[in-house]
Amino acid sequence: MDKFIIQGGKPLNGEIKISGSKNAALPLMVATLLSPGKYTLHNVPELRDIRTMAHLLRIIGAKIEFADHTLIIDTTQADFPEAPYELVKTMRASIYVLGPLLARFKAAKVSLPGGCAWGPRPVDLHIKGMKKLGVELNLDGGYIVANCRKLKGSHIHFDVSSVGATGNVMMAAVLADGMTILENAASEPEIIDLGHFLIRMGARIEGLGTKTIQIEGMPGLHPADYTIIPDRIETGTFLCAARITGGKITLRNCQPKQLLEVLEKLKESGAEMVIRENEITLKSTTPIQPVNVTTDVYPGFPTDMQAQWIALMSLAAGSSVVTDSIFTDRFTHVPELNRLGAQIVQKNNSVFIQGVNELKGAPVMSTDLRASASLVIAALAAKGKSEVFRVYHIDRGYEKIELKLQQAGAEISRENAGDVI
Ligand code: UD1
Repeated sequence: MDKFIIQGGKPLNGEIKISGSKNAALPLMVATLLSPGKYTLHNVPELRDIRTMAHLLRIIGAKIEFADHTLIIDTTQADFPEAPYELVKTMRASIYVLGPLLARFKAAKVSLPGGCAWGPRPVDLHIKGMKKLGVELNLDGGYIVANCRKLKGSHIHFDVSSVGATGNVMMAAVLADGMTILENAASEPEIIDLGHFLIRMGARIEGLGTKTIQIEGMPGLHPADYTIIPDRIETGTFLCAARITGGKITLRNCQPKQLLEVLEKLKESGAEMVIRENEITLKSTTPIQPVNVTTDVYPGFPTDMQAQWIALMSLAAGSSVVTDSIFTDRFTHVPELNRLGAQIVQKNNSVFIQGVNELKGAPVMSTDLRASASLVIAALAAKGKSEVFRVYHIDRGYEKIELKLQQAGAEISRENAGDVI
C-alpha cells in the first residue's frame, strides 16, 4: 500500500489542470449499456473507480479500451446482466448498472452495496423507483434480483433528493413505455451531464437541472460520443489547498459556475479570486477568516467538500461550525486532523472548530476519498513532515494528485508503505 510523504508549510504556487469528473463519468460509462454499439467518451479521468467500473462492464460483456483520457466502450456483445459483490463492495456507484441492465435485458442481478465508512447509505430509493417502473425485485443472498416484462413510465416522487437514484431511474426510464416524471430529482451537474449524454443517444428528457425531470420513453437509443465535464470537487479541493497554504494557484479546464457556493465561502474566508469561464485564480494573502458551512444538495455546499473545508477552517482566525446535512456520519477525518494539531469537536452531524495558529506534521490515516483529501491539504499547511497512509482511497477520485501538487511547488512524494499499514 502506498503512502504520501509531505513536507508541509510551503505555499502552493503555480497552475493545475483539472481532470474530468469522476461522478459524471461513472454513470455515463454505464449508460452505454442501454444501446448496443461503440461509444467514445473524452476527458475521462484516469482513476481507480473508472477502472473498477470498466472491470464491471467487461464482466457484463463490454469491450473497453482506455488511453489518454479517452474511453472506447463497445457494448455490442454485452450479455451477462450481473454485478458481483466483489466489485460492488469496493465501489458503491456500481449500483448504477441496475437501471440500464433492466432497460436492455429486462433482468438484472446486482449485489447490494452494504454500509460504508459514513454510515448505512441505503439504496431504497433506487429500488422504489424501479418498482414504480414495473420491475419485480427480490433480495436473495445479498443480491437484488430484478425482472420485468417491460418498463412502464411512471410518476415518481423521491422523499430524499438522491444523485444515484435519480441517475439510475433516469437511465431505466429512457427506454420505458410512456412518460416518467421524477419529482424532487437531483439537479447536480453530474446528473445534467448524464441527461445530456442520454439526449445525445436519442433520449427525450426535459427539466434537467431542476427538481422535476420529465422523460419520454423511446423504443430504442443509439451510441454517441461525449466529453465529460470537469471535476468540481477536484477544483474545490485545490482551491482549499492554495488557501490553507497561503498560496496562489490558477486552475485551468474547470467550470467555476458549477461550484459557486464553494467560491462564495472561499471569498468570505478572505481569498482573492479572479474567475473566468474555464479558469480560476486564487490568491491567499490575508489570514483565513472563520466561515460556517452546512452541506446541502446542489447548488448548496457539496458534502464532498465538507472534509476539505474542515481542514481549511482548522487554521482560521477564530471558531466555525461545519454541519453535514446529507451524510450525517461523515466525519472520520476529524480525529486524524486533530492528530495534526487541529482543535475540532464533533457533536451529532456538526463539528465545532477552534482555529489554531499552526498545524504540526504527523502520521495520519486516510479513511475514505474526501477524508484523505482533507488530510493531504492539512499536511501541506502543517509545519514539518507528515505521512498520509492508505492513499488508495485518494487514488479512487483524484488523478495523480501528488504530481499535480508538485507542479504547484508542493513537497509531496509517494512511497510504498508495505502491506502492514
Ligand atoms: C453521490 C456521489 C457522492 C456524493 C453524493 C451526494 C457519486 C458516484 N457519488 O453519491 O460523491 O457525496 O452523491 O452529493 O456520484 N439516500 C437514501 N436512499 C437511497 C439513496 C440515497 O436515503 O436509496 C440518501 C443518502 O443516505 C443521503 C442522500 O440520500 O443522505 C443523498 O445521497 P445520494 O445523492 O444518493 O448519494 P450517492 O448517489 O450515493
